[in-house]
Amino acid sequence: MKVLVATEKPFAKPAVDGIKNIISEAGFDFALLEKYTEKKQLLDAVADADAIIIRSDIVDAEVLAAAKNLKIVVRAGAGYDNVDLDAATKAGVCVMNTPGQNANAVAELVLGLLVFTVRNFYNGKSGSELMGKKLGLLAFGNVGRNVARIAKGFGMEVYAYDAFCPASAIESAGVKAVANQNELFQTCDIVSLHIPATPETKNSINYDMVGQMKKGGILINTARKEVIDEAGLLKLMAEREDLKYITDIMPAANDEFSKFEGRYFSTPKKMGAQTAEANTNAGLAAARQIVDFIKNGNEKFRVNK
Ligand code: 3PG
Repeated sequence: MKVLVATEKPFAKPAVDGIKNIISEAGFDFALLEKYTEKKQLLDAVADADAIIIRSDIVDAEVLAAAKNLKIVVRAGAGYDNVDLDAATKAGVCVMNTPGQNANAVAELVLGLLVFTVRNFYNGKSGSELMGKKLGLLAFGNVGRNVARIAKGFGMEVYAYDAFCPASAIESAGVKAVANQNELFQTCDIVSLHIPATPETKNSINYDMVGQMKKGGILINTARKEVIDEAGLLKLMAEREDLKYITDIMPAANDEFSKFEGRYFSTPKKMGAQTAEANTNAGLAAARQIVDFIKNGNEKFRVNK
């Protein structure tokens, strides 16, 4: 039984060591493919793998076809939009994620980026504070809940809307529930996106949606590039010189947002979950889930039908 860790963006070393221990103790073989630069390297590496642990690595029909022995793919993280679920189901492959394991890391980055933003990117000029500001969370899953917890420590007023989480559950976490997404954008000084990339959310953060924000509004996206209608947001930011856009998404080679100097910041590469702790939590959970699946058939975290 061979378990492959295939990560273009590698885990921190303690996470790799921990995964290797769990796999070896289960009596399985361990293989590692890190920082690969071509898909061919991934296709070659998966050829004899029974299980794969990935991060944002693309597992499409071609990868699945090349992995003849594959039984399970675990995305060490939350979002699994990088895996072709239908193709996996057709190939008889179980797909899982490790929900919540890297949520605190992403949430800490949100608050870190917000302090950096309201202090004018530390450019030496007087800034503002987060205390008393209204923070809107679009989606109240694992990351949203962690952002709420930390933001309350900053003295922020936290609001949330989640199409799949009842208002009562939001309120019982000490967060104000609003009736819909429009109300969130109209009410809050800052809106932080925590929605997954799905056909329904794709391009949903558009000109009209963000255009409802109050003067000086800040939009922060540590979720997925796909949820933003970039053409609409570019048009809006050109019209509204008060708006700021902060993102944890690798910028395009010709990043059109970079013209909004002082109102736009992007991490050079998706960094939300890039901590030793998050790598270890998610990586070890993935390894344990694989062992439990192979040995006991446990499918608790399965995301494909
Ligand atoms: C996730 O979906 O868990 C995060 O976006 C982290 O992705 P990464 O493992 O590629 O950093």
